[in-house]
Amino acid sequence: MRVGVLVSGSGSNLQSMIDAERRGELAPAKLVCVISSRPGVRALERATTAGLPTFVLDHKTFATRAEFEARLVAILRGQNVELVALAGFMRVLEKTFLDAFPGRVINIHPALLPAFPGVDGQGQALAYGVKISGCTVHFVDEGTDTGPIIAQRAVEVRPDDTHDTLRERILQEEHALYPRVLQKLAAGKFRVEGRKVVELPAIIRD
Ligand code: GRF
Repeated sequence: MRVGVLVSGSGSNLQSMIDAERRGELAPAKLVCVISSRPGVRALERATTAGLPTFVLDHKTFATRAEFEARLVAILRGQNVELVALAGFMRVLEKTFLDAFPGRVINIHPALLPAFPGVDGQGQALAYGVKISGCTVHFVDEGTDTGPIIAQRAVEVRPDDTHDTLRERILQEEHALYPRVLQKLAAGKFRVEGRKVVELPAIIRD
């Protein structure tokens, strides 16, 4: 299954996918291209180093969100992308995009959804004073971080945590979780039943 990754920044999650693919742990998922909404970001360097085709699509150069999304779709279709993984992509995607890849867009969020959706999940968790936070991989729908949850990992929030230390520990879990989910999704190991994403037992799926 051909995967396009959408980024806007550092691309450490993209790197975790590239590394997993190198170790042979991503198949049948296959990374085929990386699109950034911002020029000059580290994620683009990582993609180029890995030999992946890159595209920069600056939303500010488009008159409307729909035009921006239509161009994104055209690039992904041009690369025969079947599954879209958002990895730190800083634009909200709407109907034009989601209709083009129904049930085929996933995202990683740095909190245990439905807690702390939107920007700065780590900062929200610290400010609220929760003792446990984590990360969530979910399908993308038209809401903000509201789509069906595929997988989560918990991370303890320590009394002396700063935004940076918590962010780092959550990122470690993100890097372990996201490539695993991609692999399993591509291998058909999940079934969506309404809001619930069920992991199929080996006896049914194999
Ligand atoms: C991660 O914290 C991810 O959960 C969020 O954006 C951040 C991206 O980091 N959606 P990176 O660009 O993958 O390093």
